[in-house]
Amino acid sequence: VETLAIDGGRPLSGSVRVHGAKNAALPIMAAALMTYGECVLEDVPDLKDIDVMMEILQSLGASVSRQGGTITIEPSGINQYVVQDEMMRKMRSSLFLMGPLLAKHGQVRVSKPGGCTIGTRPIDFHLNGLKLLGAEIQEENGYVECKAARLKGNHIYLDYPSVGATENLMMAAVLAEGTTVIENAAREPEIVDLANFLNAMGASVSGAGDGTIFIEGVERLHPVQYRVIPDRIVAGTLLLAATAAGGEIEVQNVRPIHLGVVLTKLRDAGAEIRTYLDRIQLKRRRPLVAVDRIQTAPYPGFPTDLQAPFMAVLTLAKGTSVLSETVFEERFKHVNELQRMGANIKVDLRTAFVKGVPRLTGANVAATDLRAGAALVIAGLAAEGTTTIEQVHHIDRGYQQIERVFESLGASIRRKSKSRF
Ligand code: UD1
Repeated sequence: VETLAIDGGRPLSGSVRVHGAKNAALPIMAAALMTYGECVLEDVPDLKDIDVMMEILQSLGASVSRQGGTITIEPSGINQYVVQDEMMRKMRSSLFLMGPLLAKHGQVRVSKPGGCTIGTRPIDFHLNGLKLLGAEIQEENGYVECKAARLKGNHIYLDYPSVGATENLMMAAVLAEGTTVIENAAREPEIVDLANFLNAMGASVSGAGDGTIFIEGVERLHPVQYRVIPDRIVAGTLLLAATAAGGEIEVQNVRPIHLGVVLTKLRDAGAEIRTYLDRIQLKRRRPLVAVDRIQTAPYPGFPTDLQAPFMAVLTLAKGTSVLSETVFEERFKHVNELQRMGANIKVDLRTAFVKGVPRLTGANVAATDLRAGAALVIAGLAAEGTTTIEQVHHIDRGYQQIERVFESLGASIRRKSKSRF
């Protein structure tokens, strides 16, 4: 069991490169199954979730290897269409196998993902959409089995612009017969990246990034070499950390346009920001001020994945900030932990009222999920004294060697192994 120990209160300085986006890489790895031949994916982060996806692809019969940030996937050996229960439990994103396996092999069986700490997370949009594309779906004993001789294009309206459902359906539709329209589709940069990857392989997808995606089915896809987009949530986390701890940093390999509303709110809170084509410089010299309202929403709204990290910053901002979570119903698990560090936060249903305090103090806290963990790292960097964060494995799902990154920016942060007994 590992913990992170942070001696807070040191401003950050220096420059750091952001790794490729986990949430772009995962569906792209699944989509690579639909080709014949070897796909080469570049700048794939070295994270637990990516390892699990590699294991799943291998368990299906694909050959997969990694060299540094480059992953090679050759799917011609696939002869299994069942994603094992243990894999589904490790990572919800194994859902992404449904679209590609169904499209290319006509069948797939996955176990239903259970609830997780940030809410119930149903999969009805995925299943309803696949049904509209002609899949026969049977649900029994916790499994979902889908079959289709060949999927047929259709008009799909999503009740909510779900990221995962948009990706799954987009992948399923590229090899379907005829035209598919996905209305009220998610518009996240990761959706655009997946569409670019599919198009590079010979698919015909247009409108990704707008609310309506059009897909003309094709017979075959060919392998490609592709670089995934930078991780906007990791970039945002670094900028938030420097805002909380103070100092001056440069974040490289980032697309400022992917962080529009986040940069606006950071400026409102007192950060000075300069953006370039693929890097962002941030300085924070003045005291922080409260931000009137942050409300999470599908892109280009404020990303739910940065709600907890931003709250950590606002605990130190003069005045009262209001944060509303509209995407996931139970995403305030970090509030308790931040309170242990001295934060003054009240939650009413889906809204948190954060009254800034002059200082946070180090404490023993636990990362309850990935982004809650990132919030605690930020709080720890800004707090006086030592913060110890338990359950670091959650943080490792989304941040590659987080302690090295912050160490290189001058923080005092160490990973410790703690024996269970
Ligand atoms: C993805 C991201 C996650 C991010 C989230 C929202 C990946 C691997 N994960 O998750 O980091 O926090 O987008 O930006 O890319 N919903 C349904 N039925 C469904 C599907 C979703 O009701 O069939 C609901 C969910 O419960 C949730 C909302 O829709 O309340 C948004 O979920 P969705 O956009 O699907 O998130 P994910 O794709 O799971």
